[in-house]
Amino acid sequence: MRAWHISSFGIDSLDFVERPTPEPGPGEVLVKVRAVSFNYRDLLMVKGIYNPKLRLPRIPCSDGAGEVVAVGDGVTAFKPRDRVAGIFMQNWLDGPLTPAKARGALGGDIDGMLAERVVLKASGLVAIPEHLSFEEAATLPCAAVTAWNALAAGNLKPGATVLIQGTGGVSIFALQLARLRGARVLGISGNNDKLNRAYSLGLDAGLNYRDNPEWDQWALEETAGEGVDLVVEVGGLGTMARSLKALRMGGVIAQIGVLSGPADPLPLPYILHKQARIQGIYVGSRQDFEDLNKAVSLALLRPVGENFNWSQARDALRRMEEASHFGKLVLTVA
Ligand SMILES: NC(=O)c1ccc[n+]([C@@H]2O[C@H](COP(=O)([O-])OP(=O)(O)OC[C@H]3O[C@@H](n4cnc5c(N)ncnc54)[C@H](OP(=O)(O)O)[C@@H]3O)[C@@H](O)[C@H]2O)c1
Repeated sequence: MRAWHISSFGIDSLDFVERPTPEPGPGEVLVKVRAVSFNYRDLLMVKGIYNPKLRLPRIPCSDGAGEVVAVGDGVTAFKPRDRVAGIFMQNWLDGPLTPAKARGALGGDIDGMLAERVVLKASGLVAIPEHLSFEEAATLPCAAVTAWNALAAGNLKPGATVLIQGTGGVSIFALQLARLRGARVLGISGNNDKLNRAYSLGLDAGLNYRDNPEWDQWALEETAGEGVDLVVEVGGLGTMARSLKALRMGGVIAQIGVLSGPADPLPLPYILHKQARIQGIYVGSRQDFEDLNKAVSLALLRPVGENFNWSQARDALRRMEEASHFGKLVLTVA
């Protein structure tokens, strides 16, 4: 079978290689991968920034969907032709995260999904929603589960206001899922065309953060001075100060991303004066993925992304690096 693997760090060093087709052992499932999606983490992994000590060669990517080809002894949950996706942390099935459950992340601790065939433990798979193509389902395991848990952390009442940052994978899922929960969504982006696309998905109000860097003030104005109930924080150090200023009293910041470097010093008093809650989010468990899939199926939600073919892994990563994409970047595995 063919796979992309990181032989040394850098997008140009991602190699297309021939590897032995793996065989499923007891409790394992052989999956024919049909589509893979990229996350910002995969870009950092390929460039050697996420984990400079990553053991190489390593097949990258946490997110893929495909069909079951064969199952090993003792597997009853899946059978050939079932449509499945891998879960991000192969050992986090449910309950709170522990150090043991955090080991086994696809495309990091162990080989990932950017291959024609993968063998995973049956417990490391979920069935994918029926209405989705493989390309659509491949977008779910990291970005959508993360957005799902960010919104859960907000404990939102209908009519609550959510602020999203940028228009990448996590943020567009947060927009779609927040709308399902009856929330009002404010969004900032560095690109007006992307804001227009976000309006078509239900964004209530948007602002270009390049033209208007004081987006915290804008968020306060949009909420009659109260502030937003939840910030889906993907910017990191460069956005956290303004996120705190944009938050209402008792609001929640779901801390997810690391897209930007340090900017303003952290305004610590805002955390206490506003009784802000900052909740770290690290994707989620298999149970979270299954809960998300129920909502996606009931709402017939359709992920949004751009497609590349199997030979274009480097092009998709470059697209992510220049941040010219909207929603998800997906490869069809031919
Ligand atoms: N903690 C977790 O479990 C978890 C899970 C998934 C992702 N993440 C992290 O979350 C972040 C987003 O991941 P992703 O896969 O959704 O990324 P992505 O698809 O590459 O999206 C990035 C987008 O964010 C926007 N952006 C970039 N710099 C920004 C800034 N300084 N302020 C506001 N927006 C900015 C840009 O959109 P515009 O052009 O529209 O501005 C860019 O296209 C990454 O840091 C990733 O590592 C963490």
